[in-house]
Amino acid sequence: MNYIRLRKNNLCVENVSAQKLAKKYRTPFYCYSLAQLKNNYFTFKNAFKSIKPVVCFSVKSNSNIAILKELKKMGSGADVVSIGELLKAKKAGINSQKIVFSGIGKTEDEIRMAIKKRVLLINVESENEVNLINKISKKISKKISIGIRLNPNVTGKTHRKISTGGKNEKFGLSYNDFIVLCEKIKKMKNLNLEGISVHIGSQITNVIPFKKMLSVVNKVINKTKINFRFIDLGGGMGISYSKKEKEINLKKYAKLIQKFMKNKNSKIIFEPGRFIIGNAAILITKIIYIKKSNKKNFIILDAGMNNLMRPALYGAHHQIIPFKKTKKILRGNLEFVGPVCESSDKFSNEKIFTKIKEGDYVGLANVGAYGMSLSSNYNTRPIIAEIMVNGSKDKIIRKRQTLESLVNN
Ligand code: LLP
Repeated sequence: MNYIRLRKNNLCVENVSAQKLAKKYRTPFYCYSLAQLKNNYFTFKNAFKSIKPVVCFSVKSNSNIAILKELKKMGSGADVVSIGELLKAKKAGINSQKIVFSGIGKTEDEIRMAIKKRVLLINVESENEVNLINKISKKISKKISIGIRLNPNVTGKTHRKISTGGKNEKFGLSYNDFIVLCEKIKKMKNLNLEGISVHIGSQITNVIPFKKMLSVVNKVINKTKINFRFIDLGGGMGISYSKKEKEINLKKYAKLIQKFMKNKNSKIIFEPGRFIIGNAAILITKIIYIKKSNKKNFIILDAGMNNLMRPALYGAHHQIIPFKKTKKILRGNLEFVGPVCESSDKFSNEKIFTKIKEGDYVGLANVGAYGMSLSSNYNTRPIIAEIMVNGSKDKIIRKRQTLESLVNN
């Protein structure tokens, strides 16, 4: 079900027309559909209902406090990678026993905070991190639960910049190092080795890499002979960004996991980000100018790479949706660009598009994940607002940064 869609040729977010929103709030801004968020969360839960996983929403994909609070109400936990994300998850009311702390570069302050907040699991990624946690836990005479991240040497078929499971990546421990570290941890009295974690990349739309990953995890578990309390399978479940691309088949993935879980009594943890929030937002932006050059027509928007970095960073494509679909067509080399002073500040090239003019609005689709969270003040432009629609109501869930705060810092 899509809650952000054309209804009678007019773009709507649930029951609210995008045109009305664009007139009410200052563009550009992110606009979320709460119904879509709920739909995605429960679709995810449902697909894995036979496994009953702990779902820890990956806060890096979107850390808006209102969104975290909504997810908390649905029963979600959190996957955090910094002190900031941890404190935000706590502020949203998420139970510490549903929070996992990941990341290869946790500082001592972050580890201490994770311990203080009694998170479910700290997923470690190196022997030296284990030594540091052991030192801290000895000092405070506590027993700390940790998991180790495995690098399975399996790459998800995805963009090279978001693939994390290959043996030459900085993430996790190789098969051999994992086994050796388990033996060392067994001798550390203040550490409780409770988890094995793995995450091979993001935007994976085919289950085969996950199948390969599970087989390596299985091998490692058999070799260590440890009955891990938790098996954290990370996130990475891909969504559809275009008609050509299909979202991951979660039911197929669930079947693979069911098979993998035979003779195991561990609890599965998932850390999905994109699948939960990716298609739950559009970026609403205004056409400032249409500039004709000899070969192209540049459609210059008021949103740029500072607001939505994915196209410039990964060559990602976010479909551009006109607010009103008419039969009138614009043809030619249309290039949708932002106002930032970089040639990589472009969103899309189109040969054919609904007729648009200066002052019209368009929406960039599927920007809920890694949209706002990757945005910046580049070119000294303010961080933009976030709006949430719920049925026929809309509200601000993050105010646009004021020029005053921008200028004084
Ligand atoms: N768990 C770990 C350990 C991760 O590193 C990530 C994402 C996730 C979970 C959540 O992955 P998801 O379910 O959202 O795919 N900025 C990039 C994506 C970077 C992903 C980083 N790690 C993008 O815009 O495509």
